[in-house]
Amino acid sequence: RAEYQAKSMALSDAMTRACDFYKLQLRTAERAKEYLIGRGLTGEIAGRFGIGYAPDGWDSLRTVFPDYDATALVEAGLVIDRTDEEGANRKRYDRFRDRIMFPIRNTKGQVIGFGGRILDSGEPKYLNSPETPLFQKGSELYGLFEARQAIRDAGYVLVTEGYMDVVALAQLGFPQVVATLGTACTAIHVQKLARQTDHVIFSFDGDGAGRRAARRALEASLPYAADNKTIKFLFLPSEHDPDSYVREHGTAGFEQQVQDAMPLSQFLLKIVTDENDLATPEGRAKVQFEAKPLLQAMQASSLRLQIVRGLAQLTQTTPTEIETLFELASPAAR
Ligand code: UTP
Ligand code: MN
Ligand code: MN
Ligand code: MN
Ligand code: MN
Repeated sequence: RAEYQAKSMALSDAMTRACDFYKLQLRTAERAKEYLIGRGLTGEIAGRFGIGYAPDGWDSLRTVFPDYDATALVEAGLVIDRTDEEGANRKRYDRFRDRIMFPIRNTKGQVIGFGGRILDSGEPKYLNSPETPLFQKGSELYGLFEARQAIRDAGYVLVTEGYMDVVALAQLGFPQVVATLGTACTAIHVQKLARQTDHVIFSFDGDGAGRRAARRALEASLPYAADNKTIKFLFLPSEHDPDSYVREHGTAGFEQQVQDAMPLSQFLLKIVTDENDLATPEGRAKVQFEAKPLLQAMQASSLRLQIVRGLAQLTQTTPTEIETLFELASPAAR
């Protein structure tokens, strides 16, 4: 326990120092600054998110960490170790080189990881910190530390896919925004968000990947859906993500999208009916087949009952028939 604490202190300290270094580097990195300006960022917003720049050298971090060989740097994911098994041929180099650096903070505000964006069109576009004792991707939300007060003030949170979506929305009037880190929205994400607010609006990219992400977010949210919670899905035109949309259509344009977001009940019914023919018994049966696991994932609630009613109407059955077929009765009532 004490050893674990000492280790995470060392990791945390390394991350903070690296973050300060990257921020300092950005001040004199003209190409990186031009890139950010080209994407519409102000210095104010870059400062608020602690955005920095990792220089284009193999061991730039040596200037911050005289003890470049310390294992903590490798464990923190800042340095990659390619030393061979015999310990000969020591090869160590910076993981992040010539990238725009987005620090990822935990809810205490400590830097626990980075996302690094390439300045041109190379691959991978974003390089992220590996999982470390401090950083588990499936449970962290980019921007949550910065957004917490704004989420309380706005009464809702926007959940996006990317770093740039968070920064652009925050800059243009929607600081109540977070991002999943390139991974699917998990139950842990939803739980974390539910602790902050009872109104969540998923706002993914308009492309196919974004729509699949919305579907997965729906599935992750169903166990947490409740009568006092509002979960919505905002669908952008296919050529847009929140960053490009708010920059093209402005704050009012995005606000309209927020107003038009689709409630969970409607999205669920849309998903199950989209590719099926409600005019045939087989089509209606298929709709129920697809709806069954989704409704089973929900707790008994008025909201679930409302969805069952909607489904009953669409599929020419009664709510009671659906509840029986789907075995939705609560264990106590059975
Ligand atoms: P996108 O490809 O939609 O990126 O991936 P983006 O945020 O719109 O990027 P820009 O606008 O081109 O800068 C969404 C998110 O998925 C993760 C990142 O978190 C990214 O923000 N991702 C994407 C990666 O981790 N690695 C990648 O190579 C690409
Ligand atoms: Mn995308
Ligand atoms: Mn995107
Ligand atoms: Mn984008
Ligand atoms: Mn447009």
